[in-house]
Amino acid sequence: MDLIIKNGTIVSPTATFKADVCVDNGKIVAITADAGTDADKVVDASGKMVLPGAIDAHTHLAMPFGGTISSDDYYAGTRAAACGGTTTVFDFILQDFGETMVDAIKRRDALCAPDAAVDYAFHVAVKDVSNGLIDTIEDAVNYGVSSFKVFMVYDFGVTDGVFYKVLEKAKSCGAMISVHAENKQLIDVLTERYLSEGKTSAWYHYMSRPEFVEGEADIRAIQLAKSLDSKLYIVHLANKEGVQAVERARNEGYQIYAETCPQYLEFTSEVYKRADGRNFVCSPPMKGEESRLALWEAIKKGLITTIATDHCPFRSYEKDWGKDDFTKIPNGCAGIENMYPYMLSAANEGKITFNKAVELCSYNPAKIFGCDAKGAIEVGKDADIVIYDPTKDFTITNDKMHSDCDHTIWEGIKVKGYPEATYSRGKLVFKDGEFLGERGWGKFIKRSSSGNL
Ligand code: URP
Ligand code: ZN
Ligand code: ZN
Ligand code: ZN
Repeated sequence: MDLIIKNGTIVSPTATFKADVCVDNGKIVAITADAGTDADKVVDASGKMVLPGAIDAHTHLAMPFGGTISSDDYYAGTRAAACGGTTTVFDFILQDFGETMVDAIKRRDALCAPDAAVDYAFHVAVKDVSNGLIDTIEDAVNYGVSSFKVFMVYDFGVTDGVFYKVLEKAKSCGAMISVHAENKQLIDVLTERYLSEGKTSAWYHYMSRPEFVEGEADIRAIQLAKSLDSKLYIVHLANKEGVQAVERARNEGYQIYAETCPQYLEFTSEVYKRADGRNFVCSPPMKGEESRLALWEAIKKGLITTIATDHCPFRSYEKDWGKDDFTKIPNGCAGIENMYPYMLSAANEGKITFNKAVELCSYNPAKIFGCDAKGAIEVGKDADIVIYDPTKDFTITNDKMHSDCDHTIWEGIKVKGYPEATYSRGKLVFKDGEFLGERGWGKFIKRSSSGNL
């Protein structure tokens, strides 16, 4: 045996129990009351929790955006992930015009494979379905990428017509479509108006993309999916009306899934009034307190399927481009190292259960995106394991983070409890605040289907 983790408390979505976990060749091979000590390495986890590594189903590593590239490449991003207990990351690939989905995957995997420190998977953000490219969605599914995304906004966004075609195609080949839902035309009108009135601060980023801009698009996206009876996964849901739309559709029996991110659970639009408000600029923006509370309620009611980060950091000097014009602020924030500690802290404080935190951050994303070897402490699964110390208090500061970015929106936020160690397929990649992993260790996760939760 390579490793035995003894005396820890194992948490799954439905159970919490004390047992020893045996790991060999990167897999969990036994879970028993007393596994003895016959292993190369024996770790005592008394008083600690033994959790499945988190799966961050939404990251943008080395992503071209707003005239620059997000500041964490595949190494820095996955290193930071490991240090926050995240052992699988999904990255979004932006398809180029004229490019097949498989070529897009190969183009980015060439960058990712040598650098990734934890296992990774891709979603392809579809831009071009003309000239038969729509059919290459099926080729990508056969290649092991079974999820795609459409953006309703940005210069790389698609029309409702393209969105519809992509939903239709995905349904025919077992793929999942996710959507960034905001109304582009309303954003354009409001943005132009505020700029012409000299209203240029970060606050007007929020004012040009307020609640209804997101809510309308959520409702429209759900209507499109309903019209085809196809599954849909709404990324970074951040508004109350969107939550209500998801609830209605689910009550009607549709497979509509929603993801939210820790930043929408922690912050409100008030952050855009701060002197460093531009650092919080992401899309969709943080909304009002009513939406924040609605998201926590939605978690408790089971309307939120997953938590992910939308990790897309930009350095201070890049955020500063928009000091006097919010439209010049690259959109996105850091979070890849903070998701699991934040959600587990919420559990530790009694806001949700530990079972729920594990379900949202690991079990559900594994199920919904077809990572069959991930998402649980179970015999046969990959030994992606976090040893969590519920007694360790931690204040997030950028100097303790392992991202390449020079600031974090999480600066000064306190969490109760913290990961002590992270294992990726049985290999220790993080311990006591230090990254111990290795560039290139992470493997591409080939997935056969998506959406089977
Ligand atoms: O502001 C954000 N979220 N930037 C990354 C791209 C996206 O919308 O997910
Ligand atoms: Zn987005
Ligand atoms: Zn995103
Ligand atoms: Zn360090």
